[in-house]
Amino acid sequence: MVFPEDQNARESHSPVSAATAHVPLSIEDIRHARALARIGRSVHYGDSVTSTNSLASQLARDGAADGTVVIAETQTKGRGRLGRSWVSPPHRNLYLSVVLRPPLAASAAPLLTLVAGLAVAETVREWTSRAAIKWPNDVLIDGRKVAGILTELEAAEGQVSFVILGIGVNLNVAAEDFPLELRDRAIGLCMAAGDVIDRTAFTTHLLSRLEERYDQFLREGFAAIRPLWEGLSCLSGRRVEIDSGGTRHTGVVIGLGADGSLRLRDTAGQEVSIVAGDVTVIDGYA
Ligand code: BTN
Repeated sequence: MVFPEDQNARESHSPVSAATAHVPLSIEDIRHARALARIGRSVHYGDSVTSTNSLASQLARDGAADGTVVIAETQTKGRGRLGRSWVSPPHRNLYLSVVLRPPLAASAAPLLTLVAGLAVAETVREWTSRAAIKWPNDVLIDGRKVAGILTELEAAEGQVSFVILGIGVNLNVAAEDFPLELRDRAIGLCMAAGDVIDRTAFTTHLLSRLEERYDQFLREGFAAIRPLWEGLSCLSGRRVEIDSGGTRHTGVVIGLGADGSLRLRDTAGQEVSIVAGDVTVIDGYA
């Protein structure tokens, strides 16, 4: 097992053997580690669900407490952003959703995606320092996606009723486990770390990091998260193209706005703030 980071592990081939990769999570260890915590005090665990986000939403509607966690070994209808699906093979990765009930205006809820992105990137970096955040919701290793976040919101009268923070992390998947069209854009953490990832350890570390950053955000505001997030961003100074709801912007990334938007100097030299969109890096990450 590689834990924490093995500085010498730099393999790009899969180190995962059939004998070691497909062990179920030790859910009792996770529950034990989080027994006194805010995030993960209650953990719902299923072998196969449609989507952990859908199940978490249902639990939240039925009154589940702030910090309730849903984890599944596989998802039959794992969802990504923009109506995409999330490939969810069993016993290899992490599919996790958290019910949060922050005292926030609904308009501030997208900041939680950035808070979670920071926590996920910091956790991945315990295994490899090659991880970075790509605005708004991706964590990359060497420019390839290792994790994604899907935040869903229910609000009433402009206030958050609950937020579902859905996190998918590719852990023990090899290049050949991804569909052909994703193979050069996705990566499993095991490929960068050079060994099988202990999924139980990864999960407990992630929940603890998420709680730390979520508490910090509620206590000190996004101003405290922003410099940490920017320190791990892979977009600063890069030329990008952004598809924002059908409008295309091209420019160089300046950084993150105080409201979580992505600040861009466009080709006309104007500064623009993008609140949502799909970013393509024009010259790659090298
Ligand atoms: C994205 O990058 O588009 C977001 C992917 C989010 C995937 C996770 S897996 C756990 C949770 N359940 C889902 O159906 N989606 C999220």
